[in-house]
Formats: sequence, structure tokens, C-alpha cells
Amino acid sequence: MTLNYQFPKNFWWGSAASATQTEGSNNGVKGKDIWDHWYATEPNRFFENVGPDTTSDFYNRYQEDIKNMKSIGHNTFRMSISWARLIPGGVGKVNDDAVIFYNNVINELIANDIEPFVNLFHFDMPLELQDQGGWENRDVVEAYVNYANEAFRLFGDRVKTWFTFNEPIVPVEGGYLYDFHYPNVVDARKAIQVGYHTMIAHAKAVQAYHQTQDGKIGIVLNLTPSYPRSQNPADLKASHICDLFFNRSFLDPAVKGEYPADLISLLEEYGHLPHTEEGDKELLKENTVDLLGVNYYQPRRVQAKAHLPNPYGPFMPDWFFDNYEMPGRKMNPYRGWEIYEKGIYDIMINLKENYGNIESFISENGMGVQNEERFLKDGRIEDDYRIEFIKEHLKWLHKSITEGCNVKGYHLWTFMDNWSWSNAYKNRYGFFSVNLATQERTAKKSASWFADVSKQNGFND
Ligand code: NOJ
Repeated sequence: MTLNYQFPKNFWWGSAASATQTEGSNNGVKGKDIWDHWYATEPNRFFENVGPDTTSDFYNRYQEDIKNMKSIGHNTFRMSISWARLIPGGVGKVNDDAVIFYNNVINELIANDIEPFVNLFHFDMPLELQDQGGWENRDVVEAYVNYANEAFRLFGDRVKTWFTFNEPIVPVEGGYLYDFHYPNVVDARKAIQVGYHTMIAHAKAVQAYHQTQDGKIGIVLNLTPSYPRSQNPADLKASHICDLFFNRSFLDPAVKGEYPADLISLLEEYGHLPHTEEGDKELLKENTVDLLGVNYYQPRRVQAKAHLPNPYGPFMPDWFFDNYEMPGRKMNPYRGWEIYEKGIYDIMINLKENYGNIESFISENGMGVQNEERFLKDGRIEDDYRIEFIKEHLKWLHKSITEGCNVKGYHLWTFMDNWSWSNAYKNRYGFFSVNLATQERTAKKSASWFADVSKQNGFND
């Protein structure tokens, strides 16, 4: 029997998570990263003062979690390695305790027929390196490449799909523009330098990987389609700038090996070109990715607001997403983000038409729900809204595949409720709920729905 929405053979069904958000930073031996530090110094910046110390205790419960992944049909799972756990201090000796832990997790996944996808950097700079300037300091690039090489050497025999960075724009925005991540700097010039060094580190890790290993390496980008609020020239320009800065400043060097000419002129115009070194251009050109992870949550509706003072130069051309009333705009009532399923299709068509139809997959998509416990019924969360959310996105993804887009899979954010940075446990995203007092995991209704979809490789609707 063929289903209405039948996905290609060997489609990747799974979910994603990151080290800091799941492991519990007090578990095992681990160096401090910026999250441990920020929480220790300013706990009130975190929702209900909850920090990264315990989170969902994946460090101790990974076997049970992987069993649960298997039970809902996962064939792939993206995790990240904590740099400060593998190499406390960021440079120097590898931590044996971490090697044992990550080996155990990787082996357990493989034993359960779940292919591990491993990401190297998910917002978690080791504190000692941040104290030296973090990504502002070019020396940190070498430290990162050393860390990447250690990870490839230790786990590359079994891990064949790697990612250098997850959402590299987020540390730029959060840490250097809008003050929602440590080091809470607001400085557009530094933000540009941080983004640039990230991409140099990325290209060097891709190069090192291709020289020594035989799998695939990519990057995970949160591509947020930019749609102008109107067709007037100011809005069109603002939307174009948004696209250049938030999407293409990572997408173009990663896939095409060069920055968009428009972006360079814009930076020149504002005197914001980053410091570069000889050979950087060639490095980027020669070390493009094998595959791309796409995180998609919501688009940007961009409106120019020339009449307001804008402290960020061209890099915050004034969009709103939370409280803008736009006729017909569908919102997630439980968190306030827009829901626009077609965005996923627009992204894939753009990759097909303008980025050589590079192999890609949805590496994150998901629906955050505040205070989700209110939907508990007989001990289980009946998250029909999440089923609907996933299903409607999958339909558009399916359409892109029928039109020739090179899409290999779909991962939900996330497997179980986890700690989401300064939002802590405010918004829940998991297939499994986590009771924070007991750490008990319970499958939500969406978990069983997704199990059927994965097992049938599609669905009827
Ligand atoms: C994207 C990030 O990769 C992840 O860390 C975060 O928790 C989710 N979005 C949800 O906001």
C-alpha cells in the first residue's frame, strides 16, 4: 500500500539534542564553559533560576533514552560533544572520563541501529578560551581545530556524519548583538569578527576532516526565510539585508566557498569589514561542506523602520516577530512564534536552485510549549498540536522532494524536554516529557504518532 506522503527509502527519521542542554554539567568530569560561568554569576538571567548543572541527566540515563529512541523508530540521532568536557580548558589533555562517556553513547546508539550524527560546537565555548576573547580571538580557531581533530581521531571510526557548528549565527546575535548569551557584548563590529572567525574555524575543520577521515562533514544552519512585509523599496531592502546577514553570511561560504558580493559591499559601506589573513579566501573556497543541516522554526517578516534610531547599523533592520499583528499570520499560541509551514519548502527550493541542490536534511524543527504539563491527561501529554505541526511541515517537505530537492531526512527538536539556555525549561519541545523532580520520562502522544510515521516511512492524511 502506498501512503499519500511516502518518503524516499532510507529517509533519516530522528531528533537532535546538544550536550549542554541534556547531559548535566555537574555529571562526570567536565571543565567549565560559558554557561556554567554565566549561571554561577547571574542566575537570575535564567528562567526560574534553573541552570545547566543537572538538565535532563542524559549523562546517567543515556541507555534508557536510547532505548526510547529506538522504540519510536529513530534511525539517526544528532548529539553534540561538549568541548569543555572532552578537553577541559579548551586546549591540552583529553579527559578520559569524557572519552568513556561519548564512546558509550556512540556504541549504544549503533547497537540500537541508530546512526550517530555528531556536532562539535553548540554554543558552548570553554570558559578559559572565552576569557581570551572567544571567537573574537583568532587563536581560538586553532584551539577549535585541535579539538575537532581529537574528536575525529577518537570517534571517527564509528561516526561518519559530522557537523562543525550548530546555528553559528546564534552566538553572534546572542553574545555580541542582542544580549541573550554570554559574554553579553553589544557591538556590531565584534559580532562580524566573531562570525567570520567561526567560518574560518569551520573551513579548517572541514579541511582537517577531509584530509584524515572518510565520512561526511557539514554544518547546521538555522535558515530563516526573509519575507518583506510589503513591496515598498525600504522593506525589500531591509529583507535583503536580513537574508544576507542572518542566512547567507554562513550559507554562502559553507556551500559555495565565498561570501556574497552584496554582503561585502554592505560591510565596506559601514566600515565593518572583518580582519582577514592571507590565504583565508582560498581556505574557504577549497573546503565546502558535503551536506547541510537545516534548522527551521519560523520565518522573518521584515519591515524597515528608518524613523527609529538603530544602534546596530545595518544589522538589525527592524523586524518584529512576537507582537506584530499581521492578518492571516498563524501563531503558536503556546509560545508566540509564527508557524509558517511553507517556509520549509521555500528553503529547500532555494537550496536546489541556488546552492547546487546540496544534500540536506531538516536537522531541527519543532514546537515549544510553555507549561505543557497543563495538557497532562491520565499521566500522558496529549500534544495533538505538535502532531499537527510536524505533519504540516512534513507535507511541505515531501512536496519539495517530489520537486527534486535533495532532502535526506527530518529530525525533531527534540527527543526529550531539555534545558534551553536562558529559557531553561520554560518551553518544552520533546517527544518525551521529563519530570524534573524525578527525571522520569514519559512518551507524549506525538512520540507514538512519530513512531508510526518512521516505521511506515510516511503517513496518510
Ligand atoms: C535551536 C538550537 O539549536 C537549540 O539549542 C534550541 O534549544 C532550539 N533551537 C529551541 O529554541
